[in-house]
Amino acid sequence: MQPAYYENLEEIQKKLWSMLDDAVVNRSSPFRIPVFICADQNDIDGRIVVLRKSDKNKNILQFHTDLRSPKVNILKKNKNASLVFYDKEQKIQLRVKVICEINNKNSVTEESWKKTQHISRRCYLTDSGPGSISDGPTSGMISKLEDFDYTMEQSEKGYENFTVVKCNIKSIEWLYLAAKGHRRAIFDIKNKKQNWLVP
Ligand SMILES: Cc1cc2nc3c(=O)[nH]c(=O)nc-3n(C[C@H](O)[C@H](O)[C@H](O)COP(=O)(O)O)c2cc1C
Repeated sequence: MQPAYYENLEEIQKKLWSMLDDAVVNRSSPFRIPVFICADQNDIDGRIVVLRKSDKNKNILQFHTDLRSPKVNILKKNKNASLVFYDKEQKIQLRVKVICEINNKNSVTEESWKKTQHISRRCYLTDSGPGSISDGPTSGMISKLEDFDYTMEQSEKGYENFTVVKCNIKSIEWLYLAAKGHRRAIFDIKNKKQNWLVP
């Protein structure tokens, strides 16, 4: 038997949002670590990020990063980006086109930083920004702090670098692989249109 979302656009929307919502809280969800792709001119690149928030009503997805990471500079020049998800078990791919908003030291980051655990704060406690050249192998940790041995109070320093990338969804493209025939659909959020596509 085919799932409810096989031939029903409303069911697809329900399904994809339930997968995105689950990924935010479920560490083992494959949708938790999408590839985020952005580009300035010809320098096209993708990288894995962790999905930290999904909001169906506002049509947003969020992930965290370091203000000093190269992708932030790229996004300042070109806000258009894409998130690609794939769940191998469920055979579902999502290609999400987004417009990004960089948040640093504002109410959005304040809310997310409070929920950021001690271990995760380590990412924002480096002397130099991600991607900086180093003389040798390094975690980049601030010289006076140990990799795992810092207090919650010391971790507050990381807040300066802590950045929330809010991705405002333009469109979501769905692809479901099935033996009986694949199914593909596009949800154009901006123009409030939806269509089946030839897979
Ligand atoms: C499983 C996994 C999760 C990651 N999560 C994030 C993340 O949430 N945010 C982030 O900026 N980088 C994350 N990274 C690191 C990025 O993939 C990338 O290496 C880093 O952000 C530098 O990218 P940039 O040079 O394009 O800025 C993650 C990497 C892996 C393997």
